[in-house]
Amino acid sequence: MTDRYGVIGHPISHSKSPVIHQQFASQAMQELSYEAIDIAPDNLAEELNTLIDSGVKGLNVTVPHKNAITDLVDQLSERAELAGAVNTISIDRHGGVVGDNTDGVGLFRDLTTNLGIELADRHLLILGAGGATRGIVPMLLDAQPASLRIANRTVQKADDIAEQFADLGEITACQFDDLDGLHFDLIINATSAGLTGEVPPFPGSIIDANTVCYDLSYSMGDTPFCVWAAEQGAAETHQGWGMLVEQAAESFLIWRGVRPDTSPVRALLPE
Ligand code: ATR
Repeated sequence: MTDRYGVIGHPISHSKSPVIHQQFASQAMQELSYEAIDIAPDNLAEELNTLIDSGVKGLNVTVPHKNAITDLVDQLSERAELAGAVNTISIDRHGGVVGDNTDGVGLFRDLTTNLGIELADRHLLILGAGGATRGIVPMLLDAQPASLRIANRTVQKADDIAEQFADLGEITACQFDDLDGLHFDLIINATSAGLTGEVPPFPGSIIDANTVCYDLSYSMGDTPFCVWAAEQGAAETHQGWGMLVEQAAESFLIWRGVRPDTSPVRALLPE
């Protein structure tokens, strides 16, 4: 029987994950199915059990289930536990449900391998302090930046993340206004404001002609954050398409034992 995989989220019809994983499967000459499955938050536990009972081999997990699913798996990887979020589920040989998180490593590979962005000794800023931020902070600190600052509308959430990861490196927190007059080498937008077409009131002064801006969000056109960053004179702006493909490749590796070459798949998507 063909091995079954899928991505669960709500809404999910827009997901590019089925296309990405089918490309990976053809590249690896492996036969598998991968579908987008819409699960409303209230039905998550029940529908997850149904999928597992039906023999599904693995699942990607996206918005809004990444946090809630941590309570529904049998085991969490260290990085999923640190992030407090799961984006990849696999079923081990004893039928145990294991939650992992490949978002951090996916972003790292896109930034460093694909885009050639240096992180060591650089000043980094993350805008936003939700689940996405928690997932990428350990990887960014591991790269030994000169500093990592987290700015958020609700400053308490940024403070909490800085405190949680203080042992891993130089990390501080503030609100958007406090950024005025500071400069950064890399700015990562991890707010979800772009989903409603908004750019929060970030001070334009944080961007200069050497600043690289990366939006974890992606869209078929430019994202509001990338448009704003380009208007402020950023050196480069990038959407999160590369991270999407790289985190998928890491999931594929976990499930199928092969890490796909991501370049032909990235070439099919916007930059
Ligand atoms: P995700 O899993 O995508 O990180 P989340 O945990 O809901 O989603 O976090 C969303 C982030 O976007 C938060 O940092 C949120 O700010 P608050 O903590 O103050 O709510 C931020 N965000 C969303 N809409 C925003 C807006 N209009 N302006 C500023 N920040 C916004």
